[in-house]
Amino acid sequence: MTDYTNRAEQIFSRINQLATISEYEVGITRTFGTDAFLQGSTLVSQWMQKAGLETRIDNIGNVRGILKSDAKNTKTFVIASHIDTVVNAGKFDGPLGVLMGLDLLEHLIATEAKLPFNIELIAFSDEEGVRYHTTYLGSKVVVGSFDESLLNKVDKNNISLNAAIETMGGKSELLSTDALAAEDFLGYYEIHIEQGPVLYESNIPVAIVTAIAGQKRVEITFTGMAGHAGTVPMDMRNDALAAASQFVLELEHFAVTNKQDLVATVGKLDVVNSASNVIPGKVICSLDLRSADELKLGLAYHAINQLCQYIADKRGIELSWNLIQETKPVTCDTGLSQSLEKAIEASDIKLVKLVSGAGHDAVPVSQVAPVSMLFVRCFKGISHNPLEDAELADVAAAIEVSDNFIEELIKERI
Ligand code: HGY
Ligand code: MN
Ligand code: MN
Repeated sequence: MTDYTNRAEQIFSRINQLATISEYEVGITRTFGTDAFLQGSTLVSQWMQKAGLETRIDNIGNVRGILKSDAKNTKTFVIASHIDTVVNAGKFDGPLGVLMGLDLLEHLIATEAKLPFNIELIAFSDEEGVRYHTTYLGSKVVVGSFDESLLNKVDKNNISLNAAIETMGGKSELLSTDALAAEDFLGYYEIHIEQGPVLYESNIPVAIVTAIAGQKRVEITFTGMAGHAGTVPMDMRNDALAAASQFVLELEHFAVTNKQDLVATVGKLDVVNSASNVIPGKVICSLDLRSADELKLGLAYHAINQLCQYIADKRGIELSWNLIQETKPVTCDTGLSQSLEKAIEASDIKLVKLVSGAGHDAVPVSQVAPVSMLFVRCFKGISHNPLEDAELADVAAAIEVSDNFIEELIKERI
């Protein structure tokens, strides 16, 4: 068994151990700031400490371990991903990148590599944005773009983000001290499962990510008139659920018609005060709209907003449209990607370049530092689903490529 396979074995064992920690009996759920999240971050922090990294948990709950260069006043290269999950998640989305990063640093320590720069491993605390519907809370603190007005946002139990930070032992007034200054931020590397079918279909273990799609997340509220299901004639109703349902289907039709440029999803739909004998008076749903093309994303967004308004007007429904979060498409750094290309060629693997439809912490990081990403093949491209899986051989290949990549960066003294 090659050393890469041995190392992959340990990564899988840690992924499996972390996956046993969840908010619920069934499935994997570790959302920002919950007890299960804290248990998971404590375990990752212990692994980092044991590896010999200078470790801390910052005020937003990121777990951070740094391997310092002997050289003075050097900059820091960050290897990272996230350890928060969606609800009923798979076990690789996030943890794979963190635990592969840990392996890479353990290997550098074991081989007594001379580093011309520091390398910081970060397990970000909130990439998915499940609890507060605002993604990248952890990475935005590290890049200094955290929006303090979010501190008053409350979750479904009416707990503010500020209170959640304090419960975790953080101090929101110290968040700005956790930023890595742009002038010290050398670059960024994130390893992540592809969460798409291309590598699986072509049986290729890894791919370079060239860009990350832009996204807009909207909260839409349809307000009609609740009424008695038995007495209100069909042509006298303002049924909020019927309006929302028409929107969902027409949105799907719009996106299928433009499928080469964008994807659109209604992932959440809440019928307020729902009961089988009540005409739904109020429905709140999410809209997740993405494209790698900024112009097409903007045009689609406005067209969908008009479509939604048209449906609401026709049905006598009041519409509220609240843009929760938007990120522009991000291009990965050419220089770092060229080094990654060399690393893939050195491992004798066919070069594949992909655009990521999924968002990643590389998005906020790209505002202050050059970013690079490596995708790892995953089972049928399935993700955000307990069926999420990856092969030992593909992770071993990704370790070899990543070792080569870091060697390139050291050689080039980036
Ligand atoms: O939604 C996404 O793109 C990522 O999984 N947070
Ligand atoms: Mn992810
Ligand atoms: Mn995800």
